Amino acid sequence: MFNITDTPEEEKLMELRGIDFGPIACAVGAMGFYGEGYPFHKTFRYIPGFNWDGFTLAAKTLTLHRRSGKNEEPGNMPLMDDGLTPEETFPKCIWVERWPGGHMLNCVGLANFGIEFYLQRGYYQRLKKPYFISIMDMDPKNAVLEIRQMCQLLVRYLGNQEGSIYAVQINCACPNTGKEASTKPIELIEKLRVAREILGDHIPILANFNALVSLNTLIAIDAFVDAYWIGNTIPAGNEIFSEQVWKRRFNVRRENGEWKSPLTDRGMPMAGGLSGPMCLEVTHGKVLEMYKSLSITKPIVAGNGIRSVDDIEELYDAGASMVFVGSAGVTKPWALNSLQSYREEPWNGRFC
Ligand SMILES: Cc1cc2nc3c(=O)[nH]c(=O)nc-3n(C[C@H](O)[C@H](O)[C@H](O)COP(=O)(O)O)c2cc1C
Repeated sequence: MFNITDTPEEEKLMELRGIDFGPIACAVGAMGFYGEGYPFHKTFRYIPGFNWDGFTLAAKTLTLHRRSGKNEEPGNMPLMDDGLTPEETFPKCIWVERWPGGHMLNCVGLANFGIEFYLQRGYYQRLKKPYFISIMDMDPKNAVLEIRQMCQLLVRYLGNQEGSIYAVQINCACPNTGKEASTKPIELIEKLRVAREILGDHIPILANFNALVSLNTLIAIDAFVDAYWIGNTIPAGNEIFSEQVWKRRFNVRRENGEWKSPLTDRGMPMAGGLSGPMCLEVTHGKVLEMYKSLSITKPIVAGNGIRSVDDIEELYDAGASMVFVGSAGVTKPWALNSLQSYREEPWNGRFC
């Protein structure tokens, strides 16, 4: 059994700019906007072992402008007027594999009411433990300006002084918005540079990618980030898996030059991104590659497909400093407790 006390160098590796984020987080969006969870979690509450309490919150990604999924606005998971609750109990934009299980395709598409809506309501201000807040620019022509404006809003509402407990995660890879996030180093560096200028010296900044990101891109931005977040969803049909595997396993197939999936079959505008066990080996390979590179000097938060303590150990062994868990909360809800408490002295993170 992996025992953290045997490897003291692993202790508190996720201390960024003096803030300890602990060893395990929820995947971005897995617990909603500020840890409130999703309506179906109310039912899961009765499942022994279902417990997100020890996970550091990674809040759902916010954008500068609304993406409510209604009234012609973009976003594929329509939200109620509270800006938090999906209108559908089991949203059409999320497909869960029934058998052999564990995989999900989603095209939530960053549905949200715009960053200021949430900041004004004080949701994040109420959090008492360190957490990650995730932002993403949407307009390629104004990407840097959007990041600047969102960071200014964060500073206005949450501050940027010593003692602030949030880190900003810049989402650089969401295949579900109809927009391919740019991984051009020069653009990324400009966004990260502007974020640092606004956020000052006390707020950690992370860059969030899927595991397909190139090592060269990561090396180029190393000086501008405090940590990496590796393991966002893998776009349906991506060549990392063969077309036969996509078709056989997930009914993802190419028709008339376009990728179709169980999500497009339900009328969704895009085939979605994959999470689950098959993605774990891709993340594992990327973490190993990063860890071996002398040019990557910042901690790695890794996930996508974690289902067991063995999976967590595998990522730690490869070089991750922190791991994150998402869809296991839906496909294996009883396992959450064991995942977050496998350490002898579990991180006692709380959402609030
Ligand atoms: C309901 C839902 C909402 C999500 N929201 C976001 C989001 O706002 N931003 C983001 O980067 N990823 C989002 N994701 C992607 C998850 O973070 C992704 O599935 C995770 O990286 C994969 O890890 P897992 O296999 O443990 O789920 C969302 C996924 C789901 C299912």
